Amino acid sequence: MIRQSAVVSILVGLGLLSACTPKTNRTMRSEGEIAFRANCKTCHRLPKPTKKSDNEWPQLVKKYGERAKLTEKQIASITLYLINNN
Ligand code: HEC
Repeated sequence: MIRQSAVVSILVGLGLLSACTPKTNRTMRSEGEIAFRANCKTCHRLPKPTKKSDNEWPQLVKKYGERAKLTEKQIASITLYLINNN
């Protein structure tokens, strides 16, 4: 007999329960942050928002956003997230 707790921890480990359990995330992520996290780490590690200035982010996100085939809207929301958090 497999202990129930073992089964539960396996399911949690596989992420199978995450759809049924309420979100425990205390901080809500903005659309821009979500798009940034999803799209800016495919070629390199996720850059820190503080790494670049308000003047630099718009052109960088445009440059790499276009390489990643992001929409104008995604580029705009990612830029907004970065300059709000640098
Ligand atoms: C298609 C691959 C790719 C994707 C997707 C990508 N990058 Fe990059 N990124 C690169 C490469 C390659 C470099 C190294 C410099 C170069 O060749 O342009 C780089 C470098 C950078 C740098 C350092 C540039 C500097 O001048 O210091 C930043 C910041 C950056 N990326 C931000 C982003 C952001 C923000 C996103 C999401 C919108 C993103 N990248 C998505 C390929 C990518």
